[in-house]
Amino acid sequence: MRTKRVLITGGAGFVGCNAAHYFGNRNWRVTVLDNLSRAGTQQNLAWLGDGTAFDFARADVRDRAAVDQVMSEERFDAVIHLAAQVAVTTSVTDPRSDFMINALGTFNVLDAVRKHCPEAVFIFASTNKVYGKIAGAQTELLGARHGYTNRPFGIDEKEPLDFLSPYGCSKGAADQYTLDYARMYGIPATSFRQSCIYGTRQFGIEDQGWVAWFAIASLLRRDITIFGDGRQVRDILHVDDLVRAYEAAILAPDRIAGQAFNVGGGPQRVISLLDLIAMLELRLDRKIPLKFGDWRPGDQRAYISDVRKLETALDWSPSITVEDGISQLLTWVERNQAAIAAVEDGVPAAAGANGDDRAPVAN
Ligand SMILES: NC(=O)c1ccc[n+]([C@@H]2O[C@H](COP(=O)([O-])OP(=O)(O)OC[C@H]3O[C@@H](n4cnc5c(N)ncnc54)[C@H](O)[C@@H]3O)[C@@H](O)[C@H]2O)c1
Repeated sequence: MRTKRVLITGGAGFVGCNAAHYFGNRNWRVTVLDNLSRAGTQQNLAWLGDGTAFDFARADVRDRAAVDQVMSEERFDAVIHLAAQVAVTTSVTDPRSDFMINALGTFNVLDAVRKHCPEAVFIFASTNKVYGKIAGAQTELLGARHGYTNRPFGIDEKEPLDFLSPYGCSKGAADQYTLDYARMYGIPATSFRQSCIYGTRQFGIEDQGWVAWFAIASLLRRDITIFGDGRQVRDILHVDDLVRAYEAAILAPDRIAGQAFNVGGGPQRVISLLDLIAMLELRLDRKIPLKFGDWRPGDQRAYISDVRKLETALDWSPSITVEDGISQLLTWVERNQAAIAAVEDGVPAAAGANGDDRAPVAN
């Protein structure tokens, strides 16, 4: 039987290298396309190369000819499109680049799928930010956390789209192109509107990847600023669970084509910023000094995904608890402090310093 082939754009990033590792170790032939713009990508590639076979194309999704070149070399069975400008804050300061990477870049990849491999399952890593402020959801401070009073299962896919911030607009446009390419051209394409994803190999920074950032900053004794009261909540999903959902989608194209899914930890995996700090303090057995700043524009008091549509469509559900997932993340940070500090400080990758000590998740 022919070996199945998957192209993972942004495959040197956090989600991408975990996905490449997963598929590569399940007999998929993996091609990673990445421009290596994100700090830590060299380390992720080195980690991936240590045991996983994959092809690597250093290319930029803004460059249509380069994308066409990669797509013309193989007949891909699946394309997982993760390459992106990922920070809302950066999108506000440089909206044009954000548009070019997220909107045009996605268009380039999607349109190249139409041209070269229209039968490939296309998964777009969209975002809960496409729902914007979610005007209809009421939140209240319920004990130590904000929470919804009228969305017991969280936010579902029927929530009106309300793109907010350049990042919300560029990802939202790409999300809609993805669904329309399924309708217009019959490509089995889906938009996964992801909530907060966390796990090992995420080199979190203050502007993006808060779970990893808090873990890294607290271990390396960097300053942590909480914007708002710290009682805001998010549902969090471990990257291993996300990657299993990608696989389930690829194996069931008829169930996902032309559909958007909210993908997160759901109501069972909700955590506030201060909850996470408390977990870190317990593990480190010391108080973590915190600074507090004002709420940032558009900061939501709560975001919790309703994941029932995905669970039903794909017979998938998250399996890793918040406690186990955070514990595994902390073990990774503890074991790889020097390599992680070098990435956070912008030091070029050194041989053998790839932060490759991956801790297993107990679940
Ligand atoms: N991590 C999360 O919590 C989360 C939540 C919602 C959505 N998402 C989406 O999931 C995807 C993966 O996120 P991540 O956390 O792994 O981010 P990441 O920054 O770790 O990975 C993105 C990768 O894309 C690459 N890239 C950036 N611009 C590129 C370009 N022009 N051409 C080619 N490659 C480029 C980067 O080098 C990086 O390796 C993104 O599309 C992101 O918007 C992530």
